[in-house]
Amino acid sequence: MGFSKASVRDAEVGGRRVLVRVDFNVPLDDGRVADETRIRAALPTLELLRERGAALVLVSHLGRPKGKPEPALSMRPVGERLSELLGAEVQQAPAVIGGDVETMAEGMGPGDVLLLENVRFEPGETENDPKLAGALAELADLYVNDAFGAAHRAHASTEGVARHLQGYAGLLLEREVTELTRVVESLQRPLVVVLGGAKVTDKIGMIDRFLEIADRILIGGAVCFSFFRAQGVATGDSLVEEAGVRLAAEALERAASSACELRLPVDLVLGERFDAGAEHRESDGVEVPDGWIGLDIGPRTAAAYAEAIGAAGTVLWNGPMGVFELELFAAGTRAVAEAVAEAPGTTVVGGGDSVAALQQFGLGEKVDWLSTGGGASLELLEGKKLPGVEALLDA
Ligand code: 3PG
Repeated sequence: MGFSKASVRDAEVGGRRVLVRVDFNVPLDDGRVADETRIRAALPTLELLRERGAALVLVSHLGRPKGKPEPALSMRPVGERLSELLGAEVQQAPAVIGGDVETMAEGMGPGDVLLLENVRFEPGETENDPKLAGALAELADLYVNDAFGAAHRAHASTEGVARHLQGYAGLLLEREVTELTRVVESLQRPLVVVLGGAKVTDKIGMIDRFLEIADRILIGGAVCFSFFRAQGVATGDSLVEEAGVRLAAEALERAASSACELRLPVDLVLGERFDAGAEHRESDGVEVPDGWIGLDIGPRTAAAYAEAIGAAGTVLWNGPMGVFELELFAAGTRAVAEAVAEAPGTTVVGGGDSVAALQQFGLGEKVDWLSTGGGASLELLEGKKLPGVEALLDA
């Protein structure tokens, strides 16, 4: 099945203002962009639009501010890096909407680029408030969605706005959907899904569906501690989400009667703190004493996961196994990254952090498809419709 939405290539954009939803939700380190994969991935669409004489109003979220401005999550560092990559000035709006932003948008000419502030500074974004969607639409003549990574969210800037403006698919969004659909349609088994990272409840919520379609699910990262808590194992000061514990208990029950094997770590690396000089040690089992935090999977787990990855027909990896940004807790993620890079099967890696990890280890070129979407790629692969794609014009 081909891609069925109208493409930005076919939009009449010359002399018009285009609102482009991008996913510039990038990792930051000390106020600087730590991994620019997602910014680079949007460049082809931005360049195409500029070449064709459009003025670009860019909108993205960054992190998860709770509907109000948080200076540490300003788009400013992203705008600066974008400007360097694009080789053009990027004007930075002081807010998402409002009089000043409208004046800036109205003053734009062909090829100009304006980056709005973090759209999640507005409470209406995640609520998909029609008022915010309308106000965003007021800034432009048409809409392009290139934010594949946020296409599973029915938010004002990803879905609501397409009710007000004609919506076209950006080049990245189109390519992602096409490549990932191809993986699903010619799926090679066994299918091994590796889930880690910190968005615990999001990930556990997806396990149900993967229990039906995968052959093996390997759990790492903070995700495993909700499972351990659900099993009554001590988790010390590790990251546990209460909502995740309930979901984990249900997933364990379902896994017991599923043909899919759900695997949890058998050993861990513990740290006393979340920092580069922290006291740390390997634990033989998975009990975490009080005062300690589980910050990586242990070597036995890493070896077992690497072996399962090597035997897979298809591997989907989403979410690091530990705090790989700190060398002390990077070994588990490195072992998985290396196994994925060497795996003979089809390999798909998604999510800002897993992609950043692969780049950090110099393995970015070694996977079949490096998706800019984390949750979005998983939802597409599990067969869900993505609201940010559905809202666009049909081809
Ligand atoms: C991502 O990083 O997966 C996307 O940018 C979506 O972010 P979210 O999970 O905060 O909606």
